[in-house]
Amino acid sequence: MEKPYRRRDLLGIRGLSADDINGILDTAENFREIDTREIKKVPALRGKTVINLFFENSTRTRTSFELAAKRLSADAVNISISTSSVTKGETILDTALNLDAMQPDCIVVRHSSAGVPHQLAKVSKAAIVNAGDGANEHPTQALLDAMTIREHKKKIKGLNVAIVGDILHSRVARSNIHLLTKLGAKVKVAGPGTLVPKDFEFLIGPEGGNPSGSEGVSNADSNPKSKIQNPKSSGTLPTGRVSASTAREPLLMVCSHVEDAIRGADVVMILRIQRERQDSAYFPTLREYAIHYGLTNDRLDLAKKDAIVLHPGPMNRGIEISSDVADSSRSLILDQVKYGVTVRMAVLYLATGGSMAS
Ligand code: CP
Repeated sequence: MEKPYRRRDLLGIRGLSADDINGILDTAENFREIDTREIKKVPALRGKTVINLFFENSTRTRTSFELAAKRLSADAVNISISTSSVTKGETILDTALNLDAMQPDCIVVRHSSAGVPHQLAKVSKAAIVNAGDGANEHPTQALLDAMTIREHKKKIKGLNVAIVGDILHSRVARSNIHLLTKLGAKVKVAGPGTLVPKDFEFLIGPEGGNPSGSEGVSNADSNPKSKIQNPKSSGTLPTGRVSASTAREPLLMVCSHVEDAIRGADVVMILRIQRERQDSAYFPTLREYAIHYGLTNDRLDLAKKDAIVLHPGPMNRGIEISSDVADSSRSLILDQVKYGVTVRMAVLYLATGGSMAS
C-alpha cells in the first residue's frame, strides 16, 4: 500500500553508492550557511515530527539530531529509555510500533545490538535513521567525518587514511571504511592484534563496494522502503571480494603495526577503546595500550606534515590519544562535532522526502 508520505531510511553506508554519499554531503553543504546565521532556523521541516529513540548513551549524536531537527523547524521528541516502558518489559518492536502509531515522520534509533534499525524499518511507516547499531554501522558519523575531510583536504579520492584503535568493536570504523573506499580513499587499519580482525580486508569489494551488495545485516534486504539514494544513481553495488594480492594496492589494508598505518597518512582517525563492548581482556592494561597504540606527537610525525587528526568522541585522553595531539591545531575533533549538526540536517531532510542537491 502506498504510504501517506515519502520516507527514506538511512540504515548504513554499506548499501549506498558513491553518488548517494556525495549527494548527501552536497545537501549538507547547502545547509551549512544556516549555522552561521544569528537565527539558526529555516522552515524546511515545519509540521514534521522526529523522534530520537536512544537505547544507548550519547552526547554528540542525540544532541545534534535534536538541534538539526529544530533548526529545520521540525518537532523533535527525545525518548529516554530509562524512563520509558521498555523498563517495564515492553519489547523494542512494540515500543517502535507504539511510537509509529503517533505518526512521526522519522525515528532516529541507537541500540547496542546490530540490526535493530533494520528490524524497525520493516514495521515502521516512519523513516528510520540509524544513529549507531552495536558494532555494525554509524552512518551519520562517517558522513560528518567525510564532510570534515572534504572541507580540509578539498577531496577524498586518493587520500591515505589511517584508522587506529579498537576496530573490532567499532561501528565508526565499519561505516568509515565503506564510505572512504567507495569515494576512492585508501584505508589502513591498525591496533592491537586482538582488536583488529585480519579478515577485515574482506569487508569491502575491489572498488570499495561490499561483497554481498547487502546492507551488512542479514535482515536488511527485505526492507520495503527505499534507502536515501540519489535519483541519478543506479544503486547497484559492485560485487566480488577484495584480494590483498590484486595487482593494484588494495583500498583496504590491515597493518600489523600502528606506525605502518600512520606513515604517510593524510588523515589519522583514532578510535575510542570501547570498554563497554569488551567482554574479555584484549590488552594487558590501559597504560600499555597508551604506550604501544596511543596517538602521540611522535607517532603523528610519521604522517604527512599537513595530516589532520579525527576522533569520533568520546575521547579517552591519555589512552588512545594524548592531550597534546587532541588539543593541537591538527586536531579537527570539534569541527567533526560542528559538521554533525549540518550532516544530520541533510539526513533528516532527505529522510522525510527532501530532494538531494545535484
Ligand atoms: N560519536 C558519537 O557517536 O558520540 P556519542 O556517543 O556521544 O553520540
